[in-house]
Amino acid sequence: MTNPMSYEGKRVVVTGCYSGVGEALVKLLAELGADEIIGLDIKEPDGPVSRYIHCDMGDPDSVDAVAGEIDGPIHALFNNAGIAANFGAEAVMRVNVFGLVRLTKALLDKIPEGGAIINTASIAGMNWPAHQTEIMELLSIDDWDKQVAWAEENPEVVADGYMFSKECIQILTMWKAKDLWKKKIRLASACPAPIDTPLLPAFKETMSEQVIDWTADQATGEYVQPMEVANLLAYLGSNAATYISGTNVNIDGGFQGGIITGQVDMSAIM
Ligand SMILES: NC(=O)c1ccc[n+]([C@@H]2O[C@H](COP(=O)([O-])OP(=O)(O)OC[C@H]3O[C@@H](n4cnc5c(N)ncnc54)[C@H](O)[C@@H]3O)[C@@H](O)[C@H]2O)c1
Repeated sequence: MTNPMSYEGKRVVVTGCYSGVGEALVKLLAELGADEIIGLDIKEPDGPVSRYIHCDMGDPDSVDAVAGEIDGPIHALFNNAGIAANFGAEAVMRVNVFGLVRLTKALLDKIPEGGAIINTASIAGMNWPAHQTEIMELLSIDDWDKQVAWAEENPEVVADGYMFSKECIQILTMWKAKDLWKKKIRLASACPAPIDTPLLPAFKETMSEQVIDWTADQATGEYVQPMEVANLLAYLGSNAATYISGTNVNIDGGFQGGIITGQVDMSAIM
Protein backbone atom coordinates (compact mmCIF):
# COMPACT_ATOMS: atom_id res chain seq x y z
CA MET A 1 0.00 0.00 0.00
CA THR A 2 1.26 3.50 -0.80
CA ASN A 3 2.28 5.49 2.26
CA PRO A 4 -0.30 8.32 2.53
CA MET A 5 2.31 10.55 4.21
CA SER A 6 4.62 10.28 1.20
CA TYR A 7 5.31 13.41 -0.85
CA GLU A 8 6.71 11.44 -3.79
CA GLY A 9 5.52 12.98 -7.04
CA LYS A 10 4.55 16.22 -5.29
CA ARG A 11 5.75 19.78 -5.77
CA VAL A 12 5.42 22.01 -2.73
CA VAL A 13 5.89 25.67 -1.79
CA VAL A 14 7.01 26.64 1.73
CA THR A 15 7.12 30.26 2.88
CA GLY A 16 9.41 31.18 5.76
CA CYS A 17 11.75 28.27 4.99
CA TYR A 18 14.95 29.80 6.40
CA SER A 19 14.56 29.08 10.12
CA GLY A 20 12.36 27.55 12.81
CA VAL A 21 9.31 25.62 11.68
CA GLY A 22 9.93 26.25 7.97
CA GLU A 23 13.50 24.98 8.21
CA ALA A 24 12.25 21.79 9.92
CA LEU A 25 9.45 21.42 7.39
CA VAL A 26 11.66 21.51 4.29
CA LYS A 27 13.92 18.85 5.86
CA LEU A 28 10.91 16.68 6.57
CA LEU A 29 9.34 17.16 3.13
CA ALA A 30 12.66 16.19 1.53
CA GLU A 31 12.75 13.03 3.68
CA LEU A 32 9.15 12.31 2.68
CA GLY A 33 10.24 12.31 -0.94
CA ALA A 34 8.89 15.62 -2.28
CA ASP A 35 9.82 15.98 -5.95
CA GLU A 36 10.41 19.70 -5.72
CA ILE A 37 10.49 22.03 -2.72
CA ILE A 38 10.25 25.70 -3.60
CA GLY A 39 11.27 27.81 -0.62
CA LEU A 40 10.28 31.46 -0.27
CA ASP A 41 11.90 33.75 2.29
CA ILE A 42 13.74 37.02 2.71
CA LYS A 43 16.78 34.95 3.72
CA GLU A 44 18.35 32.17 1.64
CA PRO A 45 18.00 28.87 3.53
CA ASP A 46 20.70 26.21 4.02
CA GLY A 47 18.02 23.54 4.08
CA PRO A 48 17.22 21.12 1.25
CA VAL A 49 15.05 23.30 -0.96
CA SER A 50 15.16 22.50 -4.68
CA ARG A 51 14.76 26.15 -5.48
CA TYR A 52 14.95 29.29 -3.35
CA ILE A 53 13.12 32.41 -4.44
CA HIS A 54 13.65 35.62 -2.52
CA CYS A 55 10.23 36.83 -1.43
CA ASP A 56 9.14 39.53 0.97
CA MET A 57 5.67 38.46 2.05
CA GLY A 58 4.99 41.99 3.26
CA ASP A 59 5.48 43.50 -0.21
CA PRO A 60 2.67 42.92 -2.75
CA ASP A 61 4.99 43.45 -5.73
CA SER A 62 7.40 40.83 -4.41
CA VAL A 63 4.57 38.36 -3.80
CA ASP A 64 3.13 38.92 -7.30
CA ALA A 65 6.52 38.57 -8.97
CA VAL A 66 7.31 35.35 -7.11
CA ALA A 67 3.90 33.83 -7.81
CA GLY A 68 4.49 34.51 -11.51
CA GLU A 69 7.81 32.66 -11.34
CA ILE A 70 6.27 29.48 -9.93
CA ASP A 71 4.88 26.92 -12.38
CA GLY A 72 2.12 24.49 -11.52
CA PRO A 73 1.22 22.02 -10.36
CA ILE A 74 1.72 22.89 -6.71
CA HIS A 75 0.33 20.01 -4.66
CA ALA A 76 0.82 21.67 -1.28
CA LEU A 77 1.27 25.32 -0.36
CA PHE A 78 2.57 25.87 3.17
CA ASN A 79 1.93 29.46 4.28
CA ASN A 80 4.31 29.48 7.20
CA ALA A 81 6.22 32.79 7.19
CA GLY A 82 5.38 35.03 10.10
CA ILE A 83 6.74 37.85 12.22
CA ALA A 84 6.03 39.12 15.75
CA ALA A 85 4.75 42.47 16.94
CA ASN A 86 8.21 43.96 17.44
CA PHE A 87 7.98 44.97 13.75
CA GLY A 88 4.79 46.97 14.37
CA ALA A 89 1.15 46.17 13.63
CA GLU A 90 1.19 47.15 9.97
CA ALA A 91 4.19 44.98 9.12
CA VAL A 92 2.66 42.06 11.02
CA MET A 93 -0.60 42.34 9.11
CA ARG A 94 1.22 42.64 5.78
CA VAL A 95 3.37 39.55 6.30
CA ASN A 96 1.07 37.34 8.38
CA VAL A 97 -2.23 38.06 6.61
CA PHE A 98 -2.22 40.21 3.48
CA GLY A 99 0.83 38.57 1.88
CA LEU A 100 -0.44 35.11 2.78
CA VAL A 101 -3.83 35.76 1.21
CA ARG A 102 -2.26 37.36 -1.88
CA LEU A 103 0.17 34.50 -2.51
CA THR A 104 -2.57 31.93 -2.00
CA LYS A 105 -4.89 33.63 -4.48
CA ALA A 106 -2.08 34.05 -7.00
CA LEU A 107 -1.13 30.36 -6.83
CA LEU A 108 -4.65 28.96 -6.63
CA ASP A 109 -4.98 28.12 -10.31
CA LYS A 110 -1.76 26.12 -10.06
CA ILE A 111 -3.05 23.92 -7.24
CA PRO A 112 -4.67 20.80 -8.72
CA GLU A 113 -7.54 18.71 -7.39
CA GLY A 114 -6.33 16.88 -4.29
CA GLY A 115 -4.01 19.77 -3.41
CA ALA A 116 -3.78 21.44 -0.01
CA ILE A 117 -3.19 24.90 1.42
CA ILE A 118 -1.82 24.66 4.95
CA ASN A 119 -1.23 27.67 7.16
CA THR A 120 0.84 28.09 10.28
CA ALA A 121 -1.55 30.01 12.53
CA SER A 122 -1.24 30.03 16.34
CA ILE A 123 -3.12 29.54 19.58
CA ALA A 124 -2.56 33.31 19.82
CA GLY A 125 -5.54 33.46 17.44
CA MET A 126 -7.88 31.56 19.76
CA ASN A 127 -9.83 34.72 20.61
CA TRP A 128 -11.24 34.97 17.06
CA PRO A 129 -14.92 34.83 18.18
CA ALA A 130 -14.50 38.32 19.65
CA HIS A 131 -13.62 39.77 16.23
CA GLN A 132 -15.33 37.52 13.70
CA THR A 133 -17.46 40.28 12.14
CA GLU A 134 -14.52 42.66 11.73
CA ILE A 135 -12.27 39.91 10.39
CA MET A 136 -14.81 38.83 7.78
CA GLU A 137 -15.13 42.46 6.75
CA LEU A 138 -11.35 42.80 6.41
CA LEU A 139 -10.96 39.51 4.55
CA SER A 140 -13.63 40.63 2.07
CA ILE A 141 -11.39 43.49 0.91
CA ASP A 142 -9.53 42.51 -2.24
CA ASP A 143 -7.16 45.45 -2.55
CA TRP A 144 -3.80 45.70 -0.76
CA ASP A 145 -3.90 49.42 0.00
CA LYS A 146 -7.47 49.18 1.26
CA GLN A 147 -6.50 46.23 3.48
CA VAL A 148 -3.64 48.27 4.96
CA ALA A 149 -5.97 51.27 5.38
CA TRP A 150 -8.57 49.10 7.16
CA ALA A 151 -5.91 47.94 9.64
CA GLU A 152 -4.84 51.55 10.24
CA GLU A 153 -8.43 52.64 10.81
CA ASN A 154 -9.19 49.87 13.32
CA PRO A 155 -6.36 50.02 15.86
CA GLU A 156 -8.62 48.96 18.75
CA VAL A 157 -9.24 45.63 16.99
CA VAL A 158 -5.84 45.09 15.37
CA ALA A 159 -3.90 46.13 18.53
CA ASP A 160 -0.23 45.13 18.12
CA GLY A 161 -1.18 42.96 15.15
CA TYR A 162 0.06 39.53 16.17
CA MET A 163 -2.93 37.97 17.91
CA PHE A 164 -5.31 39.60 15.46
CA SER A 165 -3.26 38.35 12.49
CA LYS A 166 -3.58 34.78 13.73
CA GLU A 167 -7.30 35.27 14.44
CA CYS A 168 -7.61 36.29 10.78
CA ILE A 169 -5.91 33.08 9.64
CA GLN A 170 -8.15 30.92 11.84
CA ILE A 171 -11.27 32.59 10.41
CA LEU A 172 -9.89 32.46 6.86
CA THR A 173 -9.37 28.72 7.26
CA MET A 174 -12.89 28.03 8.50
CA TRP A 175 -14.48 30.41 6.03
CA LYS A 176 -12.78 29.72 2.70
CA ALA A 177 -12.51 25.94 2.92
CA LYS A 178 -16.02 25.39 1.63
CA ASP A 179 -15.41 27.21 -1.66
CA LEU A 180 -12.04 25.56 -2.08
CA TRP A 181 -13.58 22.15 -1.53
CA LYS A 182 -15.61 22.70 -4.72
CA LYS A 183 -12.24 22.54 -6.49
CA LYS A 184 -11.24 19.54 -4.29
CA ILE A 185 -8.56 21.65 -2.61
CA ARG A 186 -8.21 21.47 1.17
CA LEU A 187 -7.46 24.36 3.51
CA ALA A 188 -6.36 23.81 7.11
CA SER A 189 -4.15 25.43 9.75
CA ALA A 190 -1.88 24.32 12.54
CA CYS A 191 -2.14 26.37 15.74
CA PRO A 192 0.96 25.93 17.89
CA ALA A 193 1.65 27.06 21.44
CA PRO A 194 5.06 28.79 21.93
CA ILE A 195 7.64 27.04 19.75
CA ASP A 196 11.35 26.87 20.46
CA THR A 197 12.42 28.89 17.39
CA PRO A 198 14.36 32.12 16.73
CA LEU A 199 11.01 33.95 16.95
CA LEU A 200 10.51 33.12 20.63
CA PRO A 201 12.60 36.01 22.06
CA ALA A 202 10.44 38.47 20.06
CA PHE A 203 7.31 37.02 21.66
CA LYS A 204 8.92 37.26 25.10
CA GLU A 205 9.65 40.91 24.33
CA THR A 206 6.21 41.79 22.98
CA MET A 207 3.92 39.55 25.07
CA SER A 208 6.24 39.31 28.11
CA GLU A 209 8.39 36.40 29.23
CA GLN A 210 5.88 35.72 32.00
CA VAL A 211 2.99 35.10 29.57
CA ILE A 212 5.04 32.95 27.18
CA ASP A 213 6.50 30.80 29.96
CA TRP A 214 3.12 30.55 31.69
CA THR A 215 1.57 29.31 28.44
CA ALA A 216 4.19 26.59 28.09
CA ASP A 217 3.89 25.71 31.82
CA GLN A 218 0.11 25.38 31.56
CA ALA A 219 0.53 23.12 28.51
CA THR A 220 3.12 20.37 28.94
CA GLY A 221 5.71 22.44 30.78
CA GLU A 222 7.86 22.60 27.64
CA TYR A 223 7.97 24.56 24.41
CA VAL A 224 6.78 22.84 21.24
CA GLN A 225 9.75 21.84 19.07
CA PRO A 226 9.89 23.03 15.43
CA MET A 227 9.90 19.46 14.10
CA GLU A 228 6.77 18.63 16.10
CA VAL A 229 4.98 21.46 14.30
CA ALA A 230 6.53 20.43 10.95
CA ASN A 231 5.18 16.89 11.50
CA LEU A 232 1.66 18.25 11.86
CA LEU A 233 1.99 20.56 8.84
CA ALA A 234 3.34 17.74 6.68
CA TYR A 235 0.50 15.49 7.82
CA LEU A 236 -2.13 18.14 7.05
CA GLY A 237 -0.68 18.67 3.58
CA SER A 238 -0.49 14.95 2.80
CA ASN A 239 -2.87 12.31 1.45
CA ALA A 240 -3.19 11.05 5.03
CA ALA A 241 -5.43 14.06 5.74
CA THR A 242 -7.79 13.96 2.75
CA TYR A 243 -10.91 14.72 4.81
CA ILE A 244 -9.33 17.44 6.94
CA SER A 245 -10.37 20.88 5.76
CA GLY A 246 -11.76 24.08 7.21
CA THR A 247 -10.25 23.40 10.59
CA ASN A 248 -7.60 24.82 12.91
CA VAL A 249 -5.66 22.05 14.57
CA ASN A 250 -4.15 22.97 17.92
CA ILE A 251 -0.69 21.70 18.70
CA ASP A 252 -0.60 23.11 22.20
CA GLY A 253 -0.08 20.30 24.70
CA GLY A 254 -3.67 20.69 25.89
CA PHE A 255 -3.45 24.43 26.64
CA GLN A 256 -6.71 25.49 25.00
CA GLY A 257 -8.59 22.44 26.25
CA GLY A 258 -7.34 23.30 29.73
CA ILE A 259 -8.69 26.84 29.42
CA ILE A 260 -12.09 25.67 28.14
CA THR A 261 -12.46 23.13 30.96
CA GLY A 262 -11.20 25.46 33.68
CA GLN A 263 -7.96 23.61 34.36
CA VAL A 264 -5.54 26.42 33.55
CA ASP A 265 -4.23 28.46 36.45
CA MET A 266 -4.96 32.05 35.42
CA SER A 267 -3.69 33.55 38.68
CA ALA A 268 -0.10 33.71 37.47
CA ILE A 269 -0.96 36.23 34.76
CA MET A 270 -3.82 38.15 36.38
N1 LIG B 1 7.68 30.56 17.64
C1 LIG B 1 6.48 30.53 18.21
O1 LIG B 1 6.35 30.54 19.45
C2 LIG B 1 5.23 30.44 17.36
C3 LIG B 1 4.04 30.02 17.96
C4 LIG B 1 2.89 29.88 17.18
C5 LIG B 1 2.95 30.15 15.82
N2 LIG B 1 4.12 30.56 15.27
C6 LIG B 1 4.15 30.82 13.82
O2 LIG B 1 5.01 29.89 13.22
C7 LIG B 1 5.44 30.41 11.95
C8 LIG B 1 6.92 30.15 11.80
O3 LIG B 1 7.61 30.91 12.77
P1 LIG B 1 8.88 30.37 13.56
O4 LIG B 1 8.50 30.28 14.98
O5 LIG B 1 9.43 29.20 12.88
O6 LIG B 1 9.83 31.65 13.45
P2 LIG B 1 11.13 31.94 12.58
O7 LIG B 1 11.43 33.37 12.77
O8 LIG B 1 12.19 30.94 12.88
O9 LIG B 1 10.61 31.67 11.09
C9 LIG B 1 9.92 32.63 10.36
C10 LIG B 1 10.44 32.57 8.93
O10 LIG B 1 9.76 33.58 8.18
C11 LIG B 1 10.74 34.31 7.46
N3 LIG B 1 10.26 35.65 7.22
C12 LIG B 1 10.21 36.69 8.09
N4 LIG B 1 9.75 37.79 7.49
C13 LIG B 1 9.49 37.43 6.21
C14 LIG B 1 8.99 38.14 5.10
N5 LIG B 1 8.70 39.45 5.17
N6 LIG B 1 8.84 37.46 3.93
C15 LIG B 1 9.17 36.16 3.83
N7 LIG B 1 9.65 35.44 4.86
C16 LIG B 1 9.81 36.08 6.03
C17 LIG B 1 11.97 34.28 8.33
O11 LIG B 1 13.15 34.59 7.60
C18 LIG B 1 11.93 32.85 8.84
O12 LIG B 1 12.51 31.94 7.93
C19 LIG B 1 5.04 31.88 11.95
O13 LIG B 1 3.89 32.06 11.15
C20 LIG B 1 4.73 32.16 13.41
O14 LIG B 1 3.80 33.21 13.57
C21 LIG B 1 5.27 30.70 16.00
